[in-house]
Formats: sequence, C-alpha cells, structure tokens
Amino acid sequence: MNETKRAVLEALSAGPVGGPALAESLDISRAAVWKHVDELREAGFEIESGSDGYALGGPTEYNALAVEYGLEAPFAVEYHDSIGSTNDRARELATDGASDVVVLADEQTGGRGRLERAWSAPSGGVWASLVCRPNVPPTRAPLYTLAAAVATTRAAREAGVDARIKWPNDVVVPLEDDESARPYRKLAGILTEMEGETDRVTWLVVGIGVNANVDAAALPPEATSVREEVGDVDRRVFVQRLLEEFDAQRNALESVVDSWREHALTIGAHVRVDRADGEVVGTAVDIDDAGALIVETDDGEQTVSAGDCEHV
Ligand code: BTN
Repeated sequence: MNETKRAVLEALSAGPVGGPALAESLDISRAAVWKHVDELREAGFEIESGSDGYALGGPTEYNALAVEYGLEAPFAVEYHDSIGSTNDRARELATDGASDVVVLADEQTGGRGRLERAWSAPSGGVWASLVCRPNVPPTRAPLYTLAAAVATTRAAREAGVDARIKWPNDVVVPLEDDESARPYRKLAGILTEMEGETDRVTWLVVGIGVNANVDAAALPPEATSVREEVGDVDRRVFVQRLLEEFDAQRNALESVVDSWREHALTIGAHVRVDRADGEVVGTAVDIDDAGALIVETDDGEQTVSAGDCEHV
C-alpha cells in the first residue's frame, strides 16, 4: 500500500477528521487528500463525509488494501481477481528477490496441487501463496508447511468449522459417519515449493488453497467448503487470521510440531501411505521433529517422510 494512503487510512481509523486537518497533519494538499479518499472508496472502503469531516466505516471488499488494513503480520499483499496460479506468480516474485509477500486471488484458472495434480480454484476461495526467505537449512523447510497447516486450521476453526489436519498437510473436516470409506472431506491443501542450496533455503513459496465461499458442487466429490459447513466467511478476516497465525508459528518453529499434534486427525488412525517405493499400512502413532509420520506396522515401526496418506 502507498505510504500516504496508509497514513490517510490510519488517521481516518482514529475517528472522523476534516480534510484540511488531514492535509495539514500529513503535509499534503487538500486535493491529494480528496484523491486518496476517492481511491479508498473505489477500493471498497466506506468513508462518509459529514460535519465532523471524513468518517471511516471499514472495508467492504476483498482486495489488497482491505487485507493489509489492520493486518498484524509483516506481509505485503498482491491481489488478482483472476490468475493462472498464485504459486506461479509468487515464484516470479521470489526469483526477483521478494520476501514476506502474499499473492491472493479470487479465482485461479490453472491452480496446481501436490503430485502435479490440478487444483480446482473457482471464484470465492482463499487462494494464497506466501513468499518467505527463512534463514534455515532445507531440512527445516517442511516445518513451514506444518506451520501453514496449523494456521489454516486455526483460521477455519475460528470461522466455526471443525477443521483438523490429515498428515502431512491437508486440512479436513471429519464426517460424522465414520463407517464411510474416507471418513473426512478436504477443506484445504498446501503446496510448498522451494529453491535453495545444500545448507540454506533461498526462498519458499507456501501455497494455501482453502475452499471458502464456494459451492461444494464446484469442487471434487471428496472436498467440502466453509460455505458448505457453516456458511460464508469474511475472506479478509480469514486471510488476516491465517497470515497472523503463520507468522506466529514461523517465529516459534520449535513448537510447530506440538501445535500440529494439537489439531491432528491422523494420530491414532489406521492409515495407508503410498510412497514412491511402496505402501506402508498400519496405525499412525506420532510425527517426529521433522514432521515425518511414525507408523506402527505388523513388521514394527516405520518412519515415513513423504507420501500420499489415506485413513482406511
Ligand atoms: C494439494 O494438492 O492438496 C495442495 C493444493 C494447493 C493449492 C493452492 S491454491 C493457492 C496456491 N496456488 C496454486 O496453484 N496452488 C496452491
């Protein structure tokens, strides 16, 4: 957000203020105040002009200015009504040296999922890609994916959804009927991409897709949405919560695994994990410090660091 526009918003959020007083306190012309107020209105901020001056009613739309307004985490926001993939755009920004930027879109026309699958991303979802440059070795990168799963789960729970984490990073809603073949529906998925050297990450792009204000009919049959579970959510508030929680988790990386366990659906479940070198079937008993799944099988304990996990 432009610095002067940010200052105009801050001044307005403190209470009604007259145009001349605003111009004087920010050392800009009255015409510049008028222009910023006009642009803020166009971006969806309700600003009334009365006898006390301009009074801010708050943002009403989902866009970059609205998400940045009141956000308590150090992320710049780039917003698109429609884009191929927010991860592709975030990778471009990362390659150009950006950090702590989130790319948001209302709709993606070429959303990408894990294992080179397509990801349905119709209008109304929370499609977000975070660019970070953590000073950590690549072995710690999976912790950022766990942090994103915790952040997404907590944002969804605050919106009233019974969200849980399925290893490694799917956010799901358990079905009441446990007898069904798959006892949960998928609410959100995470695709983390990375560039780095052997001892240090250069950049991470953490792509988070949340089926928010989307009809279940527009999604694959195994998916659900916030709309389907509890009704529509204010995406601005949802994204702010998600970014703030992600920021808190990445700043306390040593406790991410504990936070993850707190919301895990997989611990204690009977699972089948498909890996490149065969499947592992058994009871999931825990995850280790790097986020790998520990499975008790007929042949003893096995630690699985990557794979496609289903509860069976
Ligand atoms: C999965 O397969 O579960 C991961 C899905 C990740 C989807 C998100 S939506 C935002 C970001 N942009 C993409 O193209 N993919 C990720």
